[in-house]
Amino acid sequence: MSELVLNINGISYKVIAAQEETLLSVLRNQLNLTGTKYGCGEGQCGACTVLMDGVATRSCSIPAAAAAGAKVTTIEGLAVNGRLTAVQQAFLDEGAFQCGYCTSGMIMSVTALLLDNRAPNDEQIHGAMNGNVCRCGTYPRIIEAIKRASGLTTSGGDR
Ligand code: FES
Repeated sequence: MSELVLNINGISYKVIAAQEETLLSVLRNQLNLTGTKYGCGEGQCGACTVLMDGVATRSCSIPAAAAAGAKVTTIEGLAVNGRLTAVQQAFLDEGAFQCGYCTSGMIMSVTALLLDNRAPNDEQIHGAMNGNVCRCGTYPRIIEAIKRASGLTTSGGDR
């Protein structure tokens, strides 16, 4: 066990974590940030995606200690004062979910994509989203949401 200081959504948290405890486990079980989901636990489905210094990261596949010193953003850290980001709003507007289990991870991956590339083409979108799985098959709506968010972002959206 070791004590870690993690910066999550702009807040510093002191946590005690076993060496092998994942960032996902700390987020969900210690900090009650349950918007980040456990899917496969093997880095294959994307449900657990968070941002680490703006980069989409599978929180099930890294030890919590690896996040010390980084700025971690979870789905809870996107909206400010109840105002959704352009990506969140676009998912709502396009109805880009069914059961919703994958949605947090999808939104975090899209957020990372648009931070890096505000106007991705289809190939870039598919490449960035390749590791996020939706069992309900809402991919066409997710793609439309990404395109909508990209348009909002480039016309003055906030993220
Ligand atoms: Fe992390 Fe599936 S739970 S990639």
